[in-house]
Amino acid sequence: MNSKKKWLVMAGCLGFVILGMAAVKAPVQKPRNLKVLPPDISDARLDSIMQSWNKALGVNCEFCHVKKKIYPGDMDYASDAEPMKENARDMLRMTIEINRNHFWFDKNQRPEYLHTINCKTCHRGEPFPPED
Ligand code: HEC
Ligand code: HEC
Repeated sequence: MNSKKKWLVMAGCLGFVILGMAAVKAPVQKPRNLKVLPPDISDARLDSIMQSWNKALGVNCEFCHVKKKIYPGDMDYASDAEPMKENARDMLRMTIEINRNHFWFDKNQRPEYLHTINCKTCHRGEPFPPED
């Protein structure tokens, strides 16, 4: 190998090392377990939606979320062990559908974030709204 080639190989290797370091350094967002809400949702928006559900249903986070098995002091929000979470997903799908079909006037808005009809519209602070 002549020295010019050697330099090229070394530069190439260095490039890979730098790329590798960048990949490790980049903040890696843990993949969320979202099946209805957009996967690119911000932490702030997700948090505010969850807070609004607590209020709308008159419950706390544990109504739909379980605690971590190893650290029961912490919640495991990504877990689907609490069946109520799947019920809530169904309700969320229905709510998005109503808004998308009937209240999606501004097409710049994401239909998942429309809230003309929201959980509170029906629930009014009750987890199981009475039929009449
Ligand atoms: C009525 C049920 C319900 C209540 C109450 C609720 N959540 Fe959720 N939460 C869900 C559902 C359903 C999802 C998943 C949504 C999806 O699949 O798009 C979720 C997802 C989340 C996630 C994302 C987890 C992941 O996959 O990384 C976080 C964080 C979260 N909730 C926090 C909270 C907090 C904090 C509270 C209380 C302030 C709360 N939730 C109250 C139903 C609920
Ligand atoms: C159009 C009215 C309406 C809207 C909007 C609505 N719900 Fe419901 N929801 C109901 C009714 C009615 C029940 C009670 C059903 C029953 O008792 O069988 C219910 C029941 C539930 C339950 C109890 C489990 C079940 O499936 O019966 C959960 C959890 C729930 N809703 C979450 C939500 C969340 C979260 C939202 C907002 C994303 C929401 N709901 C929006 C009408 C609504």
